[in-house]
Amino acid sequence: MKKGRRALLSVLLWLAPAFMLLRYLSPSKKAAGGIEVPVENVPSNGAYLIRDKKIGIINRNGEIKAVSISCTHLGCTLNAEGDLFVCPCHGSVFSPDGKVLKGPAAADLKILRHETEGNLIRVYV
Ligand code: FES
Repeated sequence: MKKGRRALLSVLLWLAPAFMLLRYLSPSKKAAGGIEVPVENVPSNGAYLIRDKKIGIINRNGEIKAVSISCTHLGCTLNAEGDLFVCPCHGSVFSPDGKVLKGPAAADLKILRHETEGNLIRVYV
């Protein structure tokens, strides 16, 4: 009886990480969970913000980038001014690709993985 339980526990201990790895590598997981935005919502040479998700999508000469708009100083939600991100709290400014242009923030914005499929931009947070 004890051997049976140990064998079962051993199998479960091996299956759990294998299951988690399969879920991580599964293409359906990659397709699901992204935030979808129609391409036409992102103005040419401007930004589209999804404030409640803290996502900024930039279209610069047709090149799409997605960044977190959570300020790296103290976490305020950034505003878009042209193709720059500006913090309303203490004035940090970030470039379209998330680099700090003016402090007090010292760290760049987090770049978010995204993909464009047809007429949709899908951003993963
Ligand atoms: S929270 Fe953005 S500059 Fe302080």
